[in-house]
Amino acid sequence: MADQGVDPGRRRFLTATTAVVGGAGVMAAAIPFLSSWQPSARAQSAGAPVTESISKLQAGQLLRITWRGQPVFVVRRTEQMLKALPGQDARLRDPNSDNPDQQPAYAKNAHRSIKAEYLVLVGICTHLGCVPLFKPEVMAQPFDADWSGGFYCPCHNSRFDLAGRVYQGVPAPSNLRVPPHRFLDDNTLQIGVDTEGAV
Ligand code: FES
Repeated sequence: MADQGVDPGRRRFLTATTAVVGGAGVMAAAIPFLSSWQPSARAQSAGAPVTESISKLQAGQLLRITWRGQPVFVVRRTEQMLKALPGQDARLRDPNSDNPDQQPAYAKNAHRSIKAEYLVLVGICTHLGCVPLFKPEVMAQPFDADWSGGFYCPCHNSRFDLAGRVYQGVPAPSNLRVPPHRFLDDNTLQIGVDTEGAV
């Protein structure tokens, strides 16, 4: 089990790691990145589900959690982010999440999540396993002049939208994976198990 207590070290780490995402710039600075809340070594070695509070996660922010040694991204999407999702469909390889390996059935929907607001993804590129960067800014990027926000893998230039859906014409073959997860209450997320008992 993940550590549920308010560990001073963990609190300090969270406070200290609110940082700029995706390089320099005013926009990036406005969207801080809450970095890893680490489960105990015992939980990691056991591959146990990880339980985390998301109460401090603000709209537009990304929280990074470690589950089974992998990064898991939790993004609290804004209304604007959600409204932009359908506009990307024509540019995506699997816009309807038809590959069943990449998400549980309950995340096969337009926003690829249980609650539209909260996106939960394994933060590992489906090409060769790099960790994509969170690039939420809607602005032209060196890698995409029509960038609408999402994730960018710098290893070989794969791009994913703000539902983790892969763009066409990049090396990554599939959407970022949605791990099994569930909400224990409005502010508590559990990764690694879901309401159907999948792990
Ligand atoms: S590992 Fe991400 S594009 Fe190759």
